[in-house]
Amino acid sequence: MKHEFIEKNVGLLAIFIVIAISLGGLAQIVPLMFQKETNEPVDTLRPYTALEMEGRDIYIREGCSNCHSQMIRPFRSETERYGHYSVAGEGVWEHPFLWGSKRTGPDLARVGERYSDAWHEVHLLNPRDVVPQSNMPAYPWLADNVLTGEDTARKLSIFKNNFGVPYTDQDIAGAKEAVQGKTEMQALIAYLQSLGHAFR
Ligand code: HEC
Repeated sequence: MKHEFIEKNVGLLAIFIVIAISLGGLAQIVPLMFQKETNEPVDTLRPYTALEMEGRDIYIREGCSNCHSQMIRPFRSETERYGHYSVAGEGVWEHPFLWGSKRTGPDLARVGERYSDAWHEVHLLNPRDVVPQSNMPAYPWLADNVLTGEDTARKLSIFKNNFGVPYTDQDIAGAKEAVQGKTEMQALIAYLQSLGHAFR
């Protein structure tokens, strides 16, 4: 009888549904916050170098993640093609994370060291020069734009102080010099080559 009363009272039903879903959600989410493997970096993870960090920002600016995910799912069809599936401990220093879900192009989570720097350069200047059927856009300006390194030290210290990424004072002090005069192309390629380093 009581149940029928709830079912016939839309407002009450809505409230109980919200409570039920919230409890279910909490039961799934809260334990993850206390699991070591979801909130601690894997042993082999290292922070991005200053140049890789700039490359990552260019990757975000150019919208690469609109076509490329960085999240290999634990299915055979994925691991055969891309390598070891992605784990949470690889992503704890990713702010924002770039897992994505749209795959117009292949997943890039393990693309590092799969191609040479020269291959990436040709590919980014004009993808059709190496993959004739490619519909990826060309990014020729990356080779012309030169980095000043003006903000790089600040970026590293924000990652250190706000997100707990273990940059040393030396890393931060040398950040500008490490980046200054390099092209955006060099930075982006450095970033791409670092992807998946924890699983090599
Ligand atoms: C419109 C969608 C699109 C965008 C945007 C895009 N790509 Fe691609 N990308 C593709 C497609 C499709 C391929 C597969 C064909 C090829 O290799 O060119 C690809 C391939 C790649 C590959 C080779 C991957 C492999 O395993 O062979 C890399 C590396 C890559 N893209 C990097 C980038 C970067 C970096 C950016 C941003 C600067 C970017 N892509 C932007 C569609 C895109």
